[in-house]
Formats: sequence, structure tokens, C-alpha cells
Amino acid sequence: MSFETIWLKKAALPGEPGISSYVPGVGIKDSIERELRILRGLREDFVFSVMVTGSLPEEGYELLVGDGKVDILGGSDEGVLYGIFDAMRQLILTDTVVSTSECPACPLRMLNHWDNADGSIERGYSGQSFFFRDGELIVDDRTLFYARLCASVGINATVINNVNVKDKATLLITDEYLAKVRELADCLGSYGVKLYLCVNYAASMELGGCAVADPLDEDVIAYWKKAADHIYEAVPNFGGFLVKADSEGRPGPFTYGRTQADGANMLARALAPHGGKLIWRCFVYNCSQDWRDTETDRACAQYNSFYMLDGQFDDNVILQVKNGPVDFQVREPVSPLFCAMKNTNLMLEVQAAQEYTGQQRHVCYLIPMWKDVLRFHTYAYENNDRVRDIIGGAHRPGGNCGIAAVTNTGDDENWTGSDFAAANWYGFGRLAWNPSLSAETIAEEWAGLTFGDDKDVVAVVVKVLLASYGIYEDYTAPLGIGWMCNPNYHYGPNVDGYEYDRWGTYHRASCKAVGVDRSSRGTGYSQQYSEPLAKMYDDPATTPQELLLFFHRLPYTYVLPSGKTLIQHIYDTHFEGVEKLRELIEAVITVQGMIPEKEYTRIMERFAMQLANAKEWRDRINTYFCRMSGIGDAKHRKIYAVSEEDLTYPENEDGTM
Ligand code: GCU
Repeated sequence: MSFETIWLKKAALPGEPGISSYVPGVGIKDSIERELRILRGLREDFVFSVMVTGSLPEEGYELLVGDGKVDILGGSDEGVLYGIFDAMRQLILTDTVVSTSECPACPLRMLNHWDNADGSIERGYSGQSFFFRDGELIVDDRTLFYARLCASVGINATVINNVNVKDKATLLITDEYLAKVRELADCLGSYGVKLYLCVNYAASMELGGCAVADPLDEDVIAYWKKAADHIYEAVPNFGGFLVKADSEGRPGPFTYGRTQADGANMLARALAPHGGKLIWRCFVYNCSQDWRDTETDRACAQYNSFYMLDGQFDDNVILQVKNGPVDFQVREPVSPLFCAMKNTNLMLEVQAAQEYTGQQRHVCYLIPMWKDVLRFHTYAYENNDRVRDIIGGAHRPGGNCGIAAVTNTGDDENWTGSDFAAANWYGFGRLAWNPSLSAETIAEEWAGLTFGDDKDVVAVVVKVLLASYGIYEDYTAPLGIGWMCNPNYHYGPNVDGYEYDRWGTYHRASCKAVGVDRSSRGTGYSQQYSEPLAKMYDDPATTPQELLLFFHRLPYTYVLPSGKTLIQHIYDTHFEGVEKLRELIEAVITVQGMIPEKEYTRIMERFAMQLANAKEWRDRINTYFCRMSGIGDAKHRKIYAVSEEDLTYPENEDGTM
């Protein structure tokens, strides 16, 4: 399968050895040489030189520019590489380079692939895995180019397999795979990307012949120590493990009456002698709930499993916390674990794979959402209390913290299915490096690198990206309530799809009210935050409007700060979302001919699907609430019917939209 060079289009030399083919044994110094050649090709009249210096932070760099000379100083080889990519970006976007000094905000800037050994991808929307095919691990040109794309935006770690480790993937840490794992680790390492693997918590039983997976059992401890020693013997530059335990049917320490800290520390101690890190996910909740049980609240679960363990995790354990308390919905509050775990290493987990945000068929630029999370004040500390400070290590020096994105890549030619979705991969790296960059700056950079330097095209692409998240939120589930999608696939509207199911994700709409009371009068979730957040979320009047129905159960006639009733807000946002989407599509049509035809066609095909789906969302949500509340639209629009004009919008040959 061929692949495109996406945002590095102008920085690829066709036929360049090591780019057109991966050569085993090639290391980071070779990558520096190669990238320098490419850089020199961009401005032949400039003199570029590189140097590693101990006076800079390890991954930091400095560009010193004067009289046509560009000196690239790095705190390490990786720093030099990041400096070269910065100079490249500047040259492509502005045709010159200015002096700058940079170092990354987060120590770990990681991608999480949910790729399975058979080549499928859980929640993958851009083809099959390029790491696995039919149980084989693959290292080829695409792997090298992947590492190069990652390094170009500062991503320094990757986990290549699904957190749900089953079947053949359990064997990745055995001799069946280790020689290939080493080759992969070296290939990725040649661009400064460290390889991690997800492990099966029950491997002591499945592979080691132990009777249990109890983290305090001597045999289990011995199994993991031996396994870790063996991995590091085979793969000396191995990063460590990522573990999903006691979650959605995966095994874990709870089975043996042990805590999450017991489980994590046991694995961490096996890795510690080798400098390995143990990343432990906090996505622990009861996924067999009875919808009639209104006391149990899934939003409370992660905090309840972890807050009392603060301070009990070893130094090389990092807890990986999803941005919200439930599961990557278009709008959720920030996880209260960021307020609670002050003596524990933390990592933020976001999802670039658009599982609940249009599955890379809908354009949804997620940088604005992630920025909201990063700048969120936890009030857990007097100073430096934002999520970005916490995951940047402001309170826990030692480098065991950072940010991970469940990634959106596959073996599609353009890597991400939707061309626009690559902006989320690019933007994740840029934001992890520097959370102060604005969503607009990142969009401009990506659009300029990807679509060339035509100002009109860049302006349209930036406009599309910046408006997309708000638009998606407008036509889907309202006011932070989430879900309302088709079970299992998580695509398309289905208001009651999860309402009578076991997953703990309910809106509880009746003919009078909608939403879950998570205040101190309800499930008490609001009280998991530090003050003044706990107080703010406890009262509908002070809860940010976009999260109102996440925290409160309110009548349809409740009046929002905007002066509209809740039901009218639902109608208006759903009508407006579709109209705004239509405007974006029209803006893209104006640059037809200025974007390469293949990309343009791909983009328009997905837009046609997005528009049809957006109308379906609008009509189903509005109809449901119209029938449920018995209150009509104050503007007397037709709630449920697709208009004539809708039917004439870009049609496929077979008449479908
Ligand atoms: C969601 C998602 C699963 C995934 C899980 C996780 O529930 O739908 O596919 O395994 O999150 O993050 O572990």
C-alpha cells in the first residue's frame, strides 16, 4: 500500500536512501544527516550546521540565525532533530528561518495505537494497521516515515498495540516476536520515538503457567521479573508497558481483592531495574450496570477507584487519565483525578481517533477541545494548577508524566482517512510540545504545510478546521449529555441507543426533564472536584452552559443564560449546526481547482456524507425532544422533515447523499 507524505510533502526527497527504503541498523545520527540534506535542499543559499551541547535541556534546541547561517544546537541528538524540523517548517511556511529557543512542555508525548495483531484496528477509521498484518509485525518504509512524521512534531513515544491485549498480541513480549520488536524499536528510535507495548495483565497465567494473576503472589512477581529481564535483553531501548486492567472485561488486581496500586507497582518493579516505565490506565468502571439503578454513576467510578491510592504508586508508574470521566464524548468536564492525585505521576489521554466525533468521516478539529482541557485550572495547587502544568511535571519532576493520544492512523494512502483528520495528529504533537500554541496557529501551520502556500486555500482550510468542533457539537448530543449514538459502532444518532443498556451512559429523558443530577443532591459527582469547582458545578446557575445536562437534570422550560429555554436551545443549535456545515462546504467549493483533485474529491465525498448525517442527527434529536416534551419550536420550523433543497444537495450517482 502506498502512502502520502502529508504535511512533509515539501520536505521529502524522492529516492533519498533511508526514506524510500528502511535500512536496518540505521540510527538517529543517520536521520540527522538525512534531514539536514533535505533542509539544505530547501534553501541552498543558507549554511546549516548542527551541534549537540550539554547546556540545553535534553530534548530542547536553539536555532541561531545570522548572515545566511543557521546553527542548530540541541541538548541531544533528538533535540537537534527537533531543531532541524523546526527550521524546515519555518522554511516551508515563510521561506526563511528566525532564531528561536524551544524545549518541550511534556516529557512524554505519546501515541497509543489500538491495533490488533490480525491487522484490524479497534476504533480505526483509516484502513488497517501498518504495524501488523495477519499476526506478523511489520517494519518497512512506512514505519520509518511514520517515525519521521512523529518526530517532525515532537512525538517521542508510541504504543503500537491495542490496550485490549488478546490472542496473539499477548505473545508480543515473547521470543515469537522479540527479534522483530527490536527491529521496530530501532527503526522508531532512529527518529527518537521510543517503543512501548500494551501487555495482558493475565500473561502470568496465559503464558507463565501461574495459577493466578494476583500481584502479591510470588510466582506472578517472578514471572514478570523474568519477562521484563528477557525483553530488555532482546530490546535494550524498550520503553515499557501500558496496561488496561479491571476495565471492560480485562483482567486485573480486583479479582484478587488487591488495589490498582498493587497491580501497577508489581509490574513497575519488574521494569524498574531497566529504567522502564509502567503506564497504568485509570479507565476502571463497572460496565454491567442496571439502568434502573440511579445511585451508581459511571462518571464517579474512576475517582472512586483511585483517589485513596494517591502517593502509593512507585516512581516509575504513571497513571494515564482520559480527559473526561466517561469516554471521549464531544463535551465532558475534565476528569477530577487531575484534582485528586497530587502525589502520583499523571498522564493525560485524549482521543485523536474520532470514535464519538464523526469517525473521520465528519471534520472535527479537536485541538480546541484539548486546549480547553490543558488550560483547565484544577485548584489543586496554589500555583501552576492547570492540567498542562500537572502533566508537564510542575509538581513532580523526574520526567514521568505527559500526554498520550489514541491515534487516528491506518494504512489508508493519506494515513487518516479524512484528509482533515491529519490536522489532529499534527496538532497533537505540536500541542504536547507547546500547549500555548493557539488552535489557529496550529491550523495555519498544518494547512500551509499540507496544501501549499496559496493564501485562499489556507484561509478556507483554517476556517473549516476552527469551526468544525462547534458545529459537530451543535448537531449531535446537546449540552454535555453525550452518547445518543448507535451502540457498539458509536456512529450516527440513536437517542435511546444506550438508555436501557448496561454501560452506565444514560440521559434519563422523560416528558418533563432531561439530564443526570450529578450534584450533591444527586450522585455527588460534582463533589469530586476541588473548591471552587465543586461549588460551581453543584449549581445549574453557575455550571458552564455547555456542560449543563452533564451535571444537572432540568426541565425543558429551564431558561439558559442566553434567555432561551432548554428545548429551544436544542432546536436552534441543531438547525444552526447543519446550516453552518453547509456554509463550510460552500467555502471549500470556492477553492476547487486550487487543491489537488484527488484530495478535493476525497474531501467532498466525506462532506456529502457528513451533511447527510448531520441532517439525520438534527432531525432525530429534534423529533425525539419535540415528542418527549410536547413543546414545539418557537420559530415554527419543520422539526422532522428533510426539505426539497436538502434533497438537491450533492448527490451520489446512486441518489444517496
Ligand atoms: C471505549 C472504546 C473501546 C476502548 C475503551 C478504552 O470504551 O469504545 O473500544 O477499548 O474505550 O479506552 O479502553
